[in-house]
Amino acid sequence: MKKLPLIAIDGYSSCGKSTFARLIAADLGYIYIDSGAMYRAVTLYCLENGIIRGDDLDISALHQSLDQIQVEFARNPLSGLQETWLNGRNVEEQIRGIDVSSVVSRISQIREVREKMVGMQRLIGKNGGVVMEGRDIGTVVFPGATMKIFMTASTAVRARRRYDELISKGIRVKLAEVKKNIRMRDQQDENRTESPLKKAPDALLLNNSEMTVAQQMKWFRSEWDKLVQDHEN
Ligand code: DC
Repeated sequence: MKKLPLIAIDGYSSCGKSTFARLIAADLGYIYIDSGAMYRAVTLYCLENGIIRGDDLDISALHQSLDQIQVEFARNPLSGLQETWLNGRNVEEQIRGIDVSSVVSRISQIREVREKMVGMQRLIGKNGGVVMEGRDIGTVVFPGATMKIFMTASTAVRARRRYDELISKGIRVKLAEVKKNIRMRDQQDENRTESPLKKAPDALLLNNSEMTVAQQMKWFRSEWDKLVQDHEN
């Protein structure tokens, strides 16, 4: 069977990676994979099984549990959206909550967790036909990806987008708090020892601070056409 292309999208938090990756996947008829959801599912498992209690993390219990954690994705036939399942249970909503969000960066820094997730991600993407989004997809998970995109946007723009998203969900926050949180997450993502966030040298840079979603899709299509043409010549 001929392997289909794989598109790796990495970048900073709250810069619209999911929206963009989902639209590209729909456009090409590929599967969209949110790798962050996998780290979130492991974090939920840790919270539910007493592996994380407040500030305490039982690292040896986590190591022992890794073999019992199965994360899968399934398409919701009603919404058409890909949803995350943890050990046979749909956890899509729970993994987006504040409990998971506030500790997921601790869990995603653990080498053994990353090794397990990277293994699962490689399995999911092995036949291509996938748009995978995260922090290390083009650098670590699929360094040979057909196309790599690294997304960024100014802190002010990302904070405003995140703020609007939270407010629309009825969550009351202050813009300054959101901005502070984004700076902290950038700091954590860029400076961790295991697979820090960085642009792969061969990734295309997309700074979407001043771009609409439609403009980003136009940019993608023109880059994709160039790639297809290069491949044919
Ligand atoms: O994209 P997100 O906010 O849902 O990601 C959740 C967490 O997982 C965040 O702390 C970054 C981390 N992550 C990662 O380390 N590697 C990935 N490939 C994807 C996400």
